[in-house]
Amino acid sequence: MLHKDIFEELMNEEELAKTVAAMAEKINADYAGRELIVVGVLKGGVIFLADLFRQLTLDNCQLDFMAASSYGNNAVSSGVVNITKDITCNVIGRDVLIVEDILDTGNTLSCLKNHLLEKGAASVKICTLFDKPSRRKKPIKADYTGRVIEDLFIVGYGLDYSEHYRNLPYVGVLKSEIYS
Ligand code: IMP
Ligand code: MG
Repeated sequence: MLHKDIFEELMNEEELAKTVAAMAEKINADYAGRELIVVGVLKGGVIFLADLFRQLTLDNCQLDFMAASSYGNNAVSSGVVNITKDITCNVIGRDVLIVEDILDTGNTLSCLKNHLLEKGAASVKICTLFDKPSRRKKPIKADYTGRVIEDLFIVGYGLDYSEHYRNLPYVGVLKSEIYS
């Protein structure tokens, strides 16, 4: 049964697993024989990352984390992004893959990508489970996308609204009365 605040299910556990497996397969092919630093974006990206990372078959694959906040705790991003946790490994001359839950305005990921390039990464690619291209404010594209969605507010499988619903095993559309 769906959580009472969920309007409808967008992806169930089986669909999520299939999507993640297909994304891992592409990443494995693209980075075969190379070294990769996977950077998870806290907190929303961690559930997706945990499932994805275990399917990477690369011999030389490291894990690190970053966190960013755009002010406020609501459904609308303010546009001002703060890096609240930086990576600890050295990215100079290395290939980096950022793993995030959702690409919305693009403010967060363009900030994180620029930051890693400024630190000297040889390449920085983006892997996002969801993409809402109609909301984009920065000219940024994902290299690996699970699913493109309309302008809906979704939660579950790591995605939150005010820190709630991250534990739902599926992804659902939040009832609009919850955030309006
Ligand atoms: P951006 O900086 O506007 O691209 O926003 C990215 C961040 O906004 C994501 O990491 C999410 O934390 C949050 N976000 C954007 N859309 C949604 C959504 O539909 N559900 C949950 N979080 C979202
Ligand atoms: Mg988030």
